[in-house]
Amino acid sequence: MHERNPGARLRTAVDRFEELYGPGTCRLFRAPGRVNLIGEHTDYNDGFVLPMAIDLDVVIAARPRDDRGVRVYSSNYGEGVRFSLDAVTRDPRRPWSDYVRGVVFFFNQAFPAARGMDAVIDGTVPIGSGLSSSAAVETATAVALQGVNGLSMDRREMALLCQRAENEFVGARCGIMDQLVSACGRRGAALLLDCRSLESQAVPIPEDVVIAMCDTKKRRELASSEYNRRRAECEEAVRILGEAVPGVKALRDVAPEAFEARRHLLPDPLDRRAEHVVYENRRVQTSVAALRARDLAGLGREMAASHESLRTRYEVSCAELDAMVRIAAEVAGCLGARMTGGGFGGCTVNVVRRDAVPEFVAAVKRRYRAETGIAPAVYVSAPSDGAGEVFPEG
Ligand code: GLA
Repeated sequence: MHERNPGARLRTAVDRFEELYGPGTCRLFRAPGRVNLIGEHTDYNDGFVLPMAIDLDVVIAARPRDDRGVRVYSSNYGEGVRFSLDAVTRDPRRPWSDYVRGVVFFFNQAFPAARGMDAVIDGTVPIGSGLSSSAAVETATAVALQGVNGLSMDRREMALLCQRAENEFVGARCGIMDQLVSACGRRGAALLLDCRSLESQAVPIPEDVVIAMCDTKKRRELASSEYNRRRAECEEAVRILGEAVPGVKALRDVAPEAFEARRHLLPDPLDRRAEHVVYENRRVQTSVAALRARDLAGLGREMAASHESLRTRYEVSCAELDAMVRIAAEVAGCLGARMTGGGFGGCTVNVVRRDAVPEFVAAVKRRYRAETGIAPAVYVSAPSDGAGEVFPEG
């Protein structure tokens, strides 16, 4: 269940830390998971995204060591690993630790004099639900390593280091969105991220709505092979469009009007893949304008169009996600609903009137279960701050 008592949770992490590594001071660091409001499969096309950091997160209790050893215990998996900064390799028997190891590996490259650490990791981001538990682990590891070494990295550099760990060490070809929002999130706001310049702008979420995530509980099975295929399709579309239009380096550089004039150059399904990305970038801009104008119906229309495009043009949805979106959209008080993240399972994101939340949660759970036979989970989250050190209250 969703963590409702952060103070108690931090104390539990400290207790576990002392039990494993002995008494003495440790420091606490946290990094959030994320949900993306709109801008799906645009990040690796140098485009725009509008995610927010959520209050489901990863906490690390850590203390520096005098040597180059690293000990990490995961409360979620109930097991620990130890290795040296001088020989960081993947661990096929404990793949959860590869996200930590990858960040340690690149951190050590950047700061070769780094000290090791003892650490306990405890996460509330549901694993495999598309809320970026892996980015949260990476970013939490990066802030903990900086903290125990008395160093401070630029947030964007830190996000790039974490993405590199996932791309090159773990071997998953993700874009920059998840790590960037986990690093730079702002309480009360979504972030408009330009995935080319890595600049971000806070876009406040109006007080009278909440963001709800409905977990289909469908595991994201095809996700990584199809994800890589979509990336390759986008690259191929760029190559073809770039021959006709000089200066096109990514689909980000193609406006909808320019795309329509040249779409005949692209064979199916490249035309539909590119169409999704080109219009999705524009939908992000329209959604930001709608949020700023408090036009939530306008935001809802963009979200519906995004889901439809992901379903029919980008083809990364699935029956469970489609059912969840349809069910949510029928509930009074739901102003917008779409799949979120890579697709093929995981969560939907929903904009729900604050006063309608209890009915929304009950209706979605009941109807989704009746239709699919699967019991879903619903998480409601305020937009949270990005990664950093935290202190137990009292
Ligand atoms: C996954 C990746 C992100 C992004 C989304 C799709 O979550 O990790 O980088 O590409 O899919 O928008």
